[in-house]
Amino acid sequence: VDTDFEFDPYDPSIVDDPYPTYARLRDEAPAYRGERQNFWALSRFADVKAALADHETYCSSQGLLVIETTEDYEAPEFPPGNLLLMDPPEHTAYRRLISTRFLQKDVAKLEPAIRATAHTLVDRFVERGSADLVTDYTVALPAMVFAKILGIPDDDWEPFQQWSADLVSPAPTAEAMAAHHASMAAVSAFFADLLARRRAEPTDDLLSDVANGTVDGEPLTEAEFIGFAISMLIAGNDTTTNALSAGARLLALHPDQRARLVADPGLFKTAIEEVLRFEPPVHGLARTLTRDVELHGRRMEEGQKVLLLFGAANRDERQFEHPEVFDVGRQIESHLTFGFGIHYCVGLHLGRLEARVGLETLLERISDYEIATDEVHWRQAIPTRPMLGLPVTFTPSAPR
Ligand code: HEM
Repeated sequence: VDTDFEFDPYDPSIVDDPYPTYARLRDEAPAYRGERQNFWALSRFADVKAALADHETYCSSQGLLVIETTEDYEAPEFPPGNLLLMDPPEHTAYRRLISTRFLQKDVAKLEPAIRATAHTLVDRFVERGSADLVTDYTVALPAMVFAKILGIPDDDWEPFQQWSADLVSPAPTAEAMAAHHASMAAVSAFFADLLARRRAEPTDDLLSDVANGTVDGEPLTEAEFIGFAISMLIAGNDTTTNALSAGARLLALHPDQRARLVADPGLFKTAIEEVLRFEPPVHGLARTLTRDVELHGRRMEEGQKVLLLFGAANRDERQFEHPEVFDVGRQIESHLTFGFGIHYCVGLHLGRLEARVGLETLLERISDYEIATDEVHWRQAIPTRPMLGLPVTFTPSAPR
């Protein structure tokens, strides 16, 4: 079906509330053609999942973003070694370097440390009766945990909060691009230094494994190591922050659902999956076609970008009953928030654990928090659509 509406992933009104547009895409233009930015968009669950499964047709190595090119803005360039931007066989060899660090049973051991970190953060604002849950909580928690799992020294985690925010899909403005370049330089210098230290003296952690590991019998170059570490940062930090921010907001907006969780904390497991389905931290990523594909009566051509909209797929009524309803007890067979196929999120157990522990701790410590603003602001950038702040008020109490 041809349509007369435009889907522009950089349109601020879409970033504010993309869901009505996603519904139109699914119903009216399941293979949508965006002329201006030269891309296609898939929005139905079955189509997005099938594309993710077919990495030979939908490849990752030509970039994951639909790029808006303006005078102020050039597509951000990343160093080599970025796992997200690899196709097999390179992808397989690099992924092997780290996959054993993310096994569910090992990740589960981090729970006490994550919980202690969450309480430490809450202690800093609990007496005030007010906080910004994004700047005071959801940005800091993943940055601290990320530093721990990668083996970044404890005192060095603070700049990672800013670095990850600047690196992930900068808005198409001169200011955002300048911040992006500055953070890229700073984080590269940091990882170059860490590489030298880990090679001189190996430790038992993820980045030490990568620094001292090999791909096809060769150690990584400095640039590859930096690119690899940055890809972990991009994939793991802002995503988890967004999951926590979305969860904190959704529980405040749905007091009935929050009351269910307080009464029955056993529901947290399904609640986290529902938060991830309902407000995915990554709304969509692109692939590039390696051959022509016919879909829904349209011909998508080799070399063109196809945006796979996880955020639209997760609300597809062809897959979910009443997808617009936020239900913490929903039994979800599968959602696409962590992707699917060979690039399926390697850190998903960790992301889930942080989201659960982070939200459990909030409900335990400031259970009556309410959002103290009428408007939530999102940073202007699909695919990640991060929340810029979440001011709340609550009954103050004493730190632990
Ligand atoms: C709720 C939090 C998270 C979400 C929503 C999320 C989402 C995703 C998605 C959608 C992909 C697939 C990308 C693609 O298909 O191109 C992915 C891949 C990846 N994620 Fe996550 N992620 C989360 C947490 C984490 C964490 C905590 C880490 C590690 C510290 C991590 C590390 C990675 C890595 C390294 C990849 C690349 C895998 C590959 O290309 O083979 N993620 N993630």
